[in-house]
Amino acid sequence: MAAKSYDVIVIGAGPGGYVCAIRAAQLGMSVACVESRATLGGTCLNVGCIPSKALLSASEKYEAAEHHLGAMGIRIGSLKLDLKAMMGHKDQVVTSNTKGIEYLFKKNKVEWLKGKGVITAPRQVQVGSETYAAKHIVIATGSDVVSLPGITIDEKRIVSSTGAIALAEVPKTLVVIGGGVIGLELGAVWRRLGSEVTVIEFLDRILPGMDAELSKEMQKILTKQGIKFKLATKVTAAKINGKAVDLTLEDAKGGNAQNLSAEIVLVAVGRKAFTEGLGLDKVGVKTDDRGRVVTDKKFQSSVPGIYAIGDVIAGPMLAHKAEDEGMILAEMLAGQSGHIDYDLIPGVVYTWPEVAAVGKTEQQLKEAGIPYKVGKFPFSANGRARAMNATDGFVKILAHEKTDRVLGVHIVGPEAGTLIAEATLAMEFGASAEDIARTCHAHPTLEEAVKEAALAVDGRPIHI
Ligand code: NAI
Repeated sequence: MAAKSYDVIVIGAGPGGYVCAIRAAQLGMSVACVESRATLGGTCLNVGCIPSKALLSASEKYEAAEHHLGAMGIRIGSLKLDLKAMMGHKDQVVTSNTKGIEYLFKKNKVEWLKGKGVITAPRQVQVGSETYAAKHIVIATGSDVVSLPGITIDEKRIVSSTGAIALAEVPKTLVVIGGGVIGLELGAVWRRLGSEVTVIEFLDRILPGMDAELSKEMQKILTKQGIKFKLATKVTAAKINGKAVDLTLEDAKGGNAQNLSAEIVLVAVGRKAFTEGLGLDKVGVKTDDRGRVVTDKKFQSSVPGIYAIGDVIAGPMLAHKAEDEGMILAEMLAGQSGHIDYDLIPGVVYTWPEVAAVGKTEQQLKEAGIPYKVGKFPFSANGRARAMNATDGFVKILAHEKTDRVLGVHIVGPEAGTLIAEATLAMEFGASAEDIARTCHAHPTLEEAVKEAALAVDGRPIHI
């Protein structure tokens, strides 16, 4: 006999799961959310997006104080890093966010079932010794770090992002394996705080999923900031040797072995769907070759009544993608309709300057044989960016050659992650570059660089 019965049981309280639970409750369903972590919010709030952004913000200010404020006439006597206090700031930010979700659960009457959820039958979830019944089960168990063959993450010397946001000291040397989002963001944090950072990337460019021009520009900027890059290189072994880690590197295609030592090694080569212990095999929920739950357009798995959203299914492993899926799944369970345009999910890298993109890259358009025009505008020609002393980067807009419809927007620059929202909204409404160009943009703002790039699509920017 089930202890209690719900309309919806969501397993996992990350951005996908908690949003789905809250939205389902708002729509009048009885909802429980199973979470085994001591705090709500999943990877994102506890050990991912939020704490890393707290450290990125704090380290950015530290670097500004150390290197950049002088140029604006602000002299600082003796600057000191209090890493413990900086970590305290990060922890406090995490607590206020995770407690915030607890409050939202109470407000919306979402019941938190504490423990690990196991699906024991199509409409049944076991948590500890209790069994609960549900009309709908939503798997929102997220993802977990992956390592490389022969490299064991101990979270002390060889760390994942979880260990890298909690180091007790600034390492003299940090090697980052993987020039993707985590590698660049956390590499940037420790470089600003004083580490010598080397990024080792298997492919021949960093941020491989993004427009190639962004990768090139970002590598140039980060190199100028002091990060070293070894591209087309693989790590074949990592051995802890007292207070150091000895790495063996090779060219990606093999040969040319080299050694490199670092105090800390951060493994940031991607994440994998997390479904361990959920009991998927027993109930017959199908997974793909990468362990992700296979779902249809309505997020239903191969078993009726069991759904999945977020990192545990296909698509970009991004909190906002999971949130949107959680939201529309709840609405669909309530009988409404829903739709996500997976082409219009923005991606942001929170380095300084930031990198942000939405829609197609130039490479994707070429591959698909879609004719396009390019409009580019550099921040060095934007008055506000000059006033901020933040002139690195550019806005690049790709529009269809014939229809002028915006197909992709790619930005490296100050607050690129904020600027991309305008582009995403414009693209959601099917805007042309001309629409953006004719929209009044406040002066003086960084957004004017977006308008100028849109004007540049038609070869008529004003300020360059
Ligand atoms: P990622 O997929 O962004 O980057 C992994 C990088 O490692 C790639 O450049 C890949 O080519 C490289 N790589 C793979 N195998 C390698 C090897 N053997 N040796 C050297 N390099 C190798 O994954 P990352 O950075 O670990 O992040 C995991 C997930 O979390 C991603 O999906 C990412 O989008 C997400 N995330 C998003 C953030 C954001 O939105 N700002 C922040 C942090 C993570």
